[in-house]
Amino acid sequence: MKRLTRKVTKRRSRGIAKKKHMVISKPEMAIAREISPLVAKYWTQRFSLFSRYNEGIRLDEEGWYSVTPEAIASDQAKSCRDVLVIDCFSGVGGNAIQFAKSGCHVLAIDVDPQKVELSRHNANIYGVGDYIDFIVGDFFLLAPFLRGNVAFLSPPWGGPDYNKIETFTLGMLKPQSGYSIFKAALQITPNIIFFLPRNIDFNQISELSWLSSPPLDLQVQENHVFGKLKGVTAYFGSCASTCSSVP
Ligand SMILES: C[S@@+](CC[C@H](N)C(=O)[O-])C[C@H]1O[C@@H](n2cnc3c(N)ncnc32)[C@H](O)[C@@H]1O
Repeated sequence: MKRLTRKVTKRRSRGIAKKKHMVISKPEMAIAREISPLVAKYWTQRFSLFSRYNEGIRLDEEGWYSVTPEAIASDQAKSCRDVLVIDCFSGVGGNAIQFAKSGCHVLAIDVDPQKVELSRHNANIYGVGDYIDFIVGDFFLLAPFLRGNVAFLSPPWGGPDYNKIETFTLGMLKPQSGYSIFKAALQITPNIIFFLPRNIDFNQISELSWLSSPPLDLQVQENHVFGKLKGVTAYFGSCASTCSSVP
């Protein structure tokens, strides 16, 4: 039987230089006034979402609140180099870009055609568009036909209000429960990286490794940006031994 480890590591992602958050030009102020109150909060964090934001990065409203902050995406990508990664819920490309930057080839899937266009555009700004294949499609329908070395899961957390819940359960993930999402990913590979809310029920993460026989190795990492806990990443299978821990 494979060894099951459940060691929680804290990873403090450094984020981007503070100065960029304080200098707001007049055109930027005009943009800030035009955007919705929901987006305004995330716009102030734009350089921690994409350090190259000013080079023309584009996001839609859901993209603003659901993209993985760049420092976290970069840490997650360090666990797999030079392999084929299936980014099953690729959004506006925050993770796909970082996987490609770490030498991986990426298959980026999103059910929303606009997201796929935005992630293609953003990947080109980072110069990694050639290392990503973009697919518009439903992950659950595609999963039985996909093969890859690593499956990356960053499904919707149900909007910004996930933070108000005391304990987030796998059943609250969208568009299906975390168990269904994980089972779909197991059809591709046992090497799975699952990005989850910071208030997730840790016992349920362990249960996921028992959906495979023998149970999968597991390593759980807390993701901080500027000292704030932003999420939790669970690394399963071979990813458990390659994920970065406290330096
Ligand atoms: C949390 S966002 C992903 C963010 C992404 N990691 C990033 O950094 O940009 C979740 C994405 O899942 C997509 N999605 C929802 N249901 C899906 C499905 N059945 N198949 C594929 N994508 C889906 C949404 O359109 C949304 O863009």
